[in-house]
Amino acid sequence: MTNISRPKMTVPMLVQRKAEQSRLSMVTAYDATFASIVDAGGVDLILVGDSVATVMQGQKNTLGVSMDEMVYHVRLVAAAQPKALIVGDMPFGSYQSSSVDAVDNAVRLVKAGAEIVKLEGGLFVQDAISCIANSDIPVMGHIGLTPQSYHRMGGNKIQGRSDGDSAGSRSRLIADALAVEEAGACAVVIEGVPAELASEITGMLSIPTIGIGAGVQCDGQVLVMHDLLGLSERTFTFAKAYSNFRVLAQQAVAEYVAEVSNGSWPDEQHSFH
Ligand code: KIV
Repeated sequence: MTNISRPKMTVPMLVQRKAEQSRLSMVTAYDATFASIVDAGGVDLILVGDSVATVMQGQKNTLGVSMDEMVYHVRLVAAAQPKALIVGDMPFGSYQSSSVDAVDNAVRLVKAGAEIVKLEGGLFVQDAISCIANSDIPVMGHIGLTPQSYHRMGGNKIQGRSDGDSAGSRSRLIADALAVEEAGACAVVIEGVPAELASEITGMLSIPTIGIGAGVQCDGQVLVMHDLLGLSERTFTFAKAYSNFRVLAQQAVAEYVAEVSNGSWPDEQHSFH
């Protein structure tokens, strides 16, 4: 089943979809081939996530991926000309030092083909979000379990379970969500928080929330493509494999190796005379 003939998704449609209570779907992709596959599957948004660091580059966390690498992957996805909106992730180090850097790097992602840029954090990145949004670049926030806060969190840990107002606490996450909206974000990812808290935040905001490990009451959901397709070796409580591409791909390669070895490949049909 494909949805190639559907209209191009636009940024104004995001808030409209929240008003219509029509749930949004987002999936990551990092190149043109897979962008065209997930687009044909009908997703609303394709996230060129900094998860490229873990699922494509084999790194332990997302901290090492560079701005140049994110620009490269956004360009590959944009080459597929998807109907889905392209969201380009701002990597660690590309927006923390100054709002000027944040705008410059957001501009680089837009020039490579991103239609929205995404950055992690709440209160601390309010200035960066508002400077980017005021430069007419749509911004998506990302709160809760923010993988770029790997060292502060002590690994990728569920957030929003503690009291008080320190980073990662329940009340701080609510403050982060409000800060992101107030700064001008057009949507916000909520990752790795209790479903009840994500639901409460979703009810407070006028912009759509897109959840991952945040329950069913968000305005949309996002999954990493490798998890969704069953390409990963890893499994997570919050991710579902809708297929088993890893096994299928291994079987295909094993069949090829066997045919090469027994001399049945290439056959007549695939040979020239
Ligand atoms: O980089 C990424 O894939 C993400 C999602 C997990 C939301 O940020």
